[in-house]
Amino acid sequence: MPSATVPTPEFIAGLPKCELHLHLEGTLEPDLKLALAKRNGIELDQKTVAEVRATYEFDDLASFLAVYYPAMEVLRTEQDFYDLAMAYLRRAAADGVRHVEMFFDPQAHTTRGVPFADVVQGYHRATVDARDELGISSALILCFLRDHTAESAAETLESAAPFKDLIVGVGLDSDERDNPPLKFADTFARARELGLKLTMHCDIDQVGSIEHIRQVIEEIGVDRIDHGTNIVEDPRLVEIVRERGLGLTSCPVSNSFVTDDMKADEIVALLRAGVKIMINSDDPAYFGAYVAGNYVALAEKAGLSVADVVQLARNSFEASWLSDEDKAGYLAEIDAYVAANV
Ligand code: HPA
Ligand code: ZN
Repeated sequence: MPSATVPTPEFIAGLPKCELHLHLEGTLEPDLKLALAKRNGIELDQKTVAEVRATYEFDDLASFLAVYYPAMEVLRTEQDFYDLAMAYLRRAAADGVRHVEMFFDPQAHTTRGVPFADVVQGYHRATVDARDELGISSALILCFLRDHTAESAAETLESAAPFKDLIVGVGLDSDERDNPPLKFADTFARARELGLKLTMHCDIDQVGSIEHIRQVIEEIGVDRIDHGTNIVEDPRLVEIVRERGLGLTSCPVSNSFVTDDMKADEIVALLRAGVKIMINSDDPAYFGAYVAGNYVALAEKAGLSVADVVQLARNSFEASWLSDEDKAGYLAEIDAYVAANV
């Protein structure tokens, strides 16, 4: 049993959690990459898990993306996307995740000739089976690649429209430099018309971070912000997200790879200010930590109390796109867990 103040890894693993910043393609573990390459008859330069892992080497967002996108070449068939998502959902369920809203990058696949339908249907089939087999609920967020053109994003959204019941929202990822949120204003307005939720990455310490955060809040009108921790530099914007209850999906271990800092002080400052910030894993196969590992890393670094990690878990459900009824159910699970374990 944890003491009243120090959350143990066991307490964190058992705590009901929601994950809101998770790239399915970022869950490609080296062993699955090798297995998919073999199944699809693809010759990789690497032959062992250690050799693949050695290629997972980067020190900023651009160098990360330069490893990340080429690695996806092993994903070819509907079954590949299913297997990738099921492997992640198994690990997430074991980590205490009860609900997850997962990003996927269709343009990274359709530009290689993989049909959009195979990507989305493989991932969707995994969400259905995971609910039945693992008791974990999940939803899909289609991310546009911001270093591709606005026209490509618009075309991708139109190819997704017939499948819109399989996705809950749209997001924006990849390289933020010179690719501001406003570049995609029309596509996000159209996504809103289709009834989809909106979120966008505002990565850590980017050129124009604060202006990008301002754009997503004041011009795009997002329902959540991915990363976005640079907002601490602008008290006016902090007050707006606090008042609107907009979630900020932070990823401490990812931060420590793409910058030289976990940004623990910023995350804690936002938590103390009453912002709905929570903890996520981003690309766990690349950064070496799933969601519980991210909570543990932040708790150790920032000296978080049990009450702090419970608040982060509550925020994760409150910032989700679940119905109010479902949110209330999961929050009651947290209360019951705390009553039994603290
Ligand atoms: N930022 C931008 N692009 C990404 C990320 C991220 O955190 N993860 C995967 N693609
Ligand atoms: Zn991300």
